[in-house]
Amino acid sequence: MRPIPIALLLTAACMAQNPHTTPEDVAAGAKIFRSHCADCHGLTGTGGKGPDLTTGVFYHGSSDTALLNNISDGIEGTAMPGQFFSPDQIWQVVAYVRTLAVKGSLKAPPGDRISGEQLFKTKGCVNCHLVKGQGGINGPDLSHIGSQRPAEAIRKSIVEPSAEVDMSYWQADIVLENGTPYKGILLNEDTYNVQMLHPAKGLLTLPKRDFRKFEIVKTSAMPSYQSHLQPAELNDLVAYLWTLQRPRRAE
Ligand code: HEC
Ligand code: HEC
Repeated sequence: MRPIPIALLLTAACMAQNPHTTPEDVAAGAKIFRSHCADCHGLTGTGGKGPDLTTGVFYHGSSDTALLNNISDGIEGTAMPGQFFSPDQIWQVVAYVRTLAVKGSLKAPPGDRISGEQLFKTKGCVNCHLVKGQGGINGPDLSHIGSQRPAEAIRKSIVEPSAEVDMSYWQADIVLENGTPYKGILLNEDTYNVQMLHPAKGLLTLPKRDFRKFEIVKTSAMPSYQSHLQPAELNDLVAYLWTLQRPRRAE
């Protein structure tokens, strides 16, 4: 007997189809979505802390199997967490996610991305943010921001950076006994030391016994650009950042 070609086996595995697609399954999936996904993907799937799921084509794979795996295991190296539901329940969530697709939702936001890319440099964004290996490290890497958050959330991050700050970007505001102030992103705190990423001095470890003041600040280290950008410039920046997407995968 001849061995079955590996490519054929792989195709067969990729083609597993969702066995749970009745209206009852969709309703059960919707319930799980509201309690476990909506916080990041929005109640109607249009995104927020996570990407828009209404486009019908996905970055990390669009087949039923890819969705099943991504939703049950999470996506390694990203903020997408795994879930502790049974495979049957995850299939129900997949069935619900399929119903979120809206025609036309792949449309780019208004604005000129070329001008946006220029503004990203001239307005100082690049001093704090990496895009494809270029830039600073005082803020999140934005190389894939267009596939991590919808355009509206990107816009809000620029005009209202402190509205929602991930814990990993909270800041330490410290004054030493000798009066020297230090403020930077809090990386770690134990009984004796505080570690921070200082905007000018880089990685610092400061001993707590020398502190006169130590506060954790939950607002953003990013200044609001609300009054520093014309409406058209804001559109251009959003249009540029939106293009920073992972490639979409049909399978
Ligand atoms: C803590 C926030 C968070 C929660 C909770 C969350 N997600 Fe995600 N999800 C993300 C982020 C962020 C990404 C984008 C990962 C990346 O590409 O960097 C993502 C990606 C995905 C993707 C892949 C999108 C694509 O285009 O390939 C799917 C599908 C998905 N999530 C579905 C779900 C479902 C269903 C749930 C609930 C069971 C859920 N997510 C819960 C944050 C979250
Ligand atoms: C002084 C450093 C600094 C500058 C300058 C700066 N940012 Fe930020 N940015 C941050 C930090 C820190 C965060 C994370 C905390 C938060 O959510 O605001 C952030 C968050 C963001 C986010 C949200 C990222 C995410 O993962 O959700 C976007 C989008 C963004 N910045 C875009 C910009 C743009 C566009 C500019 C220029 C107009 C800019 N930033 C200038 C430090 C900076």
